[in-house]
Amino acid sequence: MYILAIESSCDDTSIAIFQDDKLIAMSTAHQVVHSKLGGVVPELASREHLAFIVPTVEDCLNKSDIQMKDLSAIGVTRGPGLMGSLLVGVSFAKGLAAALDIPLIEVHHMHAHIMSNFIDAPKPAFPFINLTVSGGHTDLYLVESPLNYSCIGTSLDDAAGEAFDKIGKMLGLSYPAGPEIDALAQQGQAKYDFPIARVGTYEFSFSGLKTSVLRFLQSKLVNQPNFIKENLHDICASVQSNIVTTLIQKLEYAIKEYDVREVAIAGGVSANSELRKAVQDMAHKHKLNYYLPAMTYCTDNAAMIGLVAYHKFKDGLFSDLSMAADPRLQYHSKIK
Ligand code: KG4
Ligand code: ZN
Repeated sequence: MYILAIESSCDDTSIAIFQDDKLIAMSTAHQVVHSKLGGVVPELASREHLAFIVPTVEDCLNKSDIQMKDLSAIGVTRGPGLMGSLLVGVSFAKGLAAALDIPLIEVHHMHAHIMSNFIDAPKPAFPFINLTVSGGHTDLYLVESPLNYSCIGTSLDDAAGEAFDKIGKMLGLSYPAGPEIDALAQQGQAKYDFPIARVGTYEFSFSGLKTSVLRFLQSKLVNQPNFIKENLHDICASVQSNIVTTLIQKLEYAIKEYDVREVAIAGGVSANSELRKAVQDMAHKHKLNYYLPAMTYCTDNAAMIGLVAYHKFKDGLFSDLSMAADPRLQYHSKIK
């Protein structure tokens, strides 16, 4: 069985081909147009997807020995994400499924992030707790099987990745700022103390951090116009340490309460070096097995979409051609 998977929910056009649950090829086109604009501009993103989708599919097919006629199904991100971006992937997927007369399989983007630890070995054993940290979401999930997961905590406002990106913008960094803050923090000291939000046990809130960094910078810049430039490494280290401490604290609560022995992280922010190290340390402390996605599978990619599509294919969970892209798609905790 061969599945072609499509991810276009935000600013990456990614195509993958699976043979059963084995990834055969993947091609991803990253949009650079947003880097100087401080964030993803939705209209530009959808236009870029339109330009990239056919060449990316062709490139992925060329990397594999598979031809269109060999495909058994098309998997595609239905949501959540940006409407215009999702529309490109969903419309393309429908066209391809109809033309080849093969099933269409819709995939929830956050479900796919959770499954990103199953692309390569070692793979988590069920049940496990997954912290999913991306540009749009900060969620804790209890995952009981490939198609059965429940959200036990989420963000009340800005997601962790969004906090990295917005604070990076204040510091004059390009979008997305997460990777650059990570790199700069490595030569800095977390010497500035920013508050950690006091919200529910499994809730996250990063908008207070954002405001407190803004106020802090404004007050310093009055007398020291070069404050950011001269202290960039330490500011980045302090912001990153605040975010990682918050994430680990909640993850630790969840592990204790749900009494699991397996823990995983996923999403763009799971590429963060301090978070990866902190998860490793926490797992050692509690004698847990831990799983960190390979760097390629942290940020948006079609491999994670293909894997969910594979599990849905096995269970005959297909969508019909009336399926519509949904920017606010809710998840169904028990798909099967
Ligand atoms: O999962 P993703 O590719 O897209 C969404 O679904 O949102 O996540 C993108 C987010 C961005 O906010 C980016 O700044 C963040 O992941 N990110 C990082 C790192 N690499 C990517 N944040 C912190 N440290 C990193 N190394
Ligand atoms: Zn994502």
